[in-house]
Amino acid sequence: MCDHRTVGTTGRRSGDATAAEVVVRPYESRDRPQVRHICHVTGYMGEPVDWLWRDTESFADLFTAYYTDAEPESALVAERDGVAAGYLLGCVDSRRAWSPAGIFGRHFLRRGIGFRPGTAGVVWRSFGDVIVDAMRRRLPPASVYDERWPAHLHIDLLPSVRGMGVGATLMHRWLDTLRDVGVPGCHLETMGENHGAIAFFESMGFRRRGVPSSAPGFRSPTGERNTVQLMVLPLSTEGRGMPEEGRRSRT
Ligand SMILES: CC(C)(COP(=O)(O)OP(=O)(O)OC[C@H]1O[C@@H](n2cnc3c(N)ncnc32)[C@H](O)[C@@H]1OP(=O)(O)O)[C@@H](O)C(=O)NCCC(=O)NCCS
Repeated sequence: MCDHRTVGTTGRRSGDATAAEVVVRPYESRDRPQVRHICHVTGYMGEPVDWLWRDTESFADLFTAYYTDAEPESALVAERDGVAAGYLLGCVDSRRAWSPAGIFGRHFLRRGIGFRPGTAGVVWRSFGDVIVDAMRRRLPPASVYDERWPAHLHIDLLPSVRGMGVGATLMHRWLDTLRDVGVPGCHLETMGENHGAIAFFESMGFRRRGVPSSAPGFRSPTGERNTVQLMVLPLSTEGRGMPEEGRRSRT
């Protein structure tokens, strides 16, 4: 996992980078501010999330703090011109990850996200959505943990390095690591409306599991409620190669 390498040049290109300019390497503590920045500027299905949640600190804590601070050995970055332009943040055993509800509660009490302009509206709308979902018996599951796919991940790239195999390289490195340590599978959650990401994960062998569940507080720019789709990938640990449901090699 620790060899630094450039990204394969197969596949689509986009933005102003070429694949050969991007190096995938292990996360280092100096990457932390940039990882948090990328999280916020790609936080709504790859677009900036500030129109929905204007506080980078609490948003980045929710989606990156466990991975950078408690399990940094499972994090990878894609670096361009000496700066991280994307990341894959992994967790080998999801039972160890910090509870998002706990992080949310801490920021509610200490950072005042329930009263801060730019976050308060979503916080109170979330509470309202949970009440409505409970009445309709459509609450999201309390946990998606399953011993068949105990690992999980988050992946986000800046637009300038998308569409040229960087995501696939990050993903293959992460899945190889999981096979090396004998982890039986991996899951992830993405917005049900994030069709590009779902296509990407499917091309990596992940499959949708169940129907999308509700995402309290989240709305599209035009006001529709967003959903969350669980995706899973059982891994074959024999012969370090193919997951059970097919895998495309990109690197
Ligand atoms: C999703 C993301 C990680 C994919 O990484 P990427 O480097 O752009 O993807 P790759 O170039 O490695 O693509 C690999 C394969 O995935 C599929 N794919 C990737 N992006 C796709 C898209 N937008 N639509 C359809 N298929 C896509 C293709 O099959 C592609 O193979 P091809 O190039 O031979 O056609 C990246 O685009 C991204 O960060 N997007 C914004 C943030 C986001 O949505 N993150 C996921 C949140 S859970």
